[in-house]
Amino acid sequence: MLKVDFKNIFEETVGGNKAISKCDVQELESKVPAAHEKIQDWRKSEDAIFYDYIFRDDITAGIAETAEKIASNFENVIVLGIGGSALGLRCAAQSLLPPFWNMLGKDSRKGKPRLFVCDNIDSDSFAALMQLVDIAKSCFIVISKSGKTTETAAQFFIVASRLKKLLGQSWSKNLVIITDPKSGELRPMVEKEGITSFAIPPKLGGRFSVLSPVGLFPAACVGIDIENLVAGAREMAKRCCSPDLKSNPAYALGGYHYILDTEKKMNISVMMPYSDALSLASDWYVQLWAESLGKAGRGQTPVKALGATDQHSQVQLYMEGPSDKVFTFLYVEKFSSRNEETIVEEPSEAFSYIKERTLSEILNAECEATIGALTKMNRPSMKISFPNVDALHLGEFFMFYQIATAFAGALYGINPFDQPGVELGKILTREILTKR
Ligand code: PA5
Repeated sequence: MLKVDFKNIFEETVGGNKAISKCDVQELESKVPAAHEKIQDWRKSEDAIFYDYIFRDDITAGIAETAEKIASNFENVIVLGIGGSALGLRCAAQSLLPPFWNMLGKDSRKGKPRLFVCDNIDSDSFAALMQLVDIAKSCFIVISKSGKTTETAAQFFIVASRLKKLLGQSWSKNLVIITDPKSGELRPMVEKEGITSFAIPPKLGGRFSVLSPVGLFPAACVGIDIENLVAGAREMAKRCCSPDLKSNPAYALGGYHYILDTEKKMNISVMMPYSDALSLASDWYVQLWAESLGKAGRGQTPVKALGATDQHSQVQLYMEGPSDKVFTFLYVEKFSSRNEETIVEEPSEAFSYIKERTLSEILNAECEATIGALTKMNRPSMKISFPNVDALHLGEFFMFYQIATAFAGALYGINPFDQPGVELGKILTREILTKR
């Protein structure tokens, strides 16, 4: 089970006037029943379908079989998608695949394909990828909930014409499309061309969709344990169903961030994993927190950092700059590799304190040191400990933050499930390209 440690968020531990006081907790507790009710309403209307979708018996139906076929027929899986259609998968792949996956030989990958996630439309990197891979041996997984996103459509049409030229009538065998069951531009193509497809539940928005075919199908193609991702999410959902702040860690997380933002002017929320595997967990979090809560002049700015790397980049600001940030540290208790390659055997005398230490021991000491130093500077933080980084704990993490975000949305009095602010940019892009 993930361990969530809030002690350094409270005034009695951190001191100063930026941490949460007993009064603040009382104030928050008075708002919890209404916010909890709001979440129940969103569950009924299916706006918060992420909550109940993971309990469906058929959540992984058809995924493993199709993924198995893709894995045995293709050398590469190339995902075309952006935002919520890409970030959860990128986080899962970074967390759960061995490091340097695409550089490993096929045996080390247990026969599974390489994975590329094209979540930008930079023509240089896209062209380089098209040169790098054998397109005939690549399966393109096109993911777009709306089926209307310009970036994904542009990539898709480039790939479709290449496949048609290369493979003729059987071009669509190299495609899987994941989109809305009815609406959007991709669904008619699926029907017309008989393309393999999975449906995204109509009300499940991109940034809440990692535990649907959006994240699960491509993850299964590269051998990620999707059953345990779902099992972890289910455990966390059960752990976070109480309307009581003290026994619902996701409500506590959403609530404390809300209070820090609105009452203490802590308008920035930094997530700092001390783990390369979890380095993209903060990218996923940044999108979830920003796009869900940044509305009607409200919301808290999420920032990503990486320990220990950013101790040598951002931490000076965090210690002595403006006290407007709350910190979340992701801490790994047991790293996968505790072997001789990661042990410091013969340091010089000045470094004798690292003798016989593993790199993970040193990294974890640095995490504790950063937390300790921030606490001394009266700067609140919290710590989420992963016993180890595996599918079960990552599933817990995804669900934990999805519930916390929904709860914070209810406290802010905004709808965390839409993104009207993204639309204007999309409309103007269409206008500019239509005129040119
Ligand atoms: O979270 C969201 O809803 C967005 O970030 C979308 O995922 C992103 O805009 C891509 O949209 P679509 O999946 O419809 O292509």
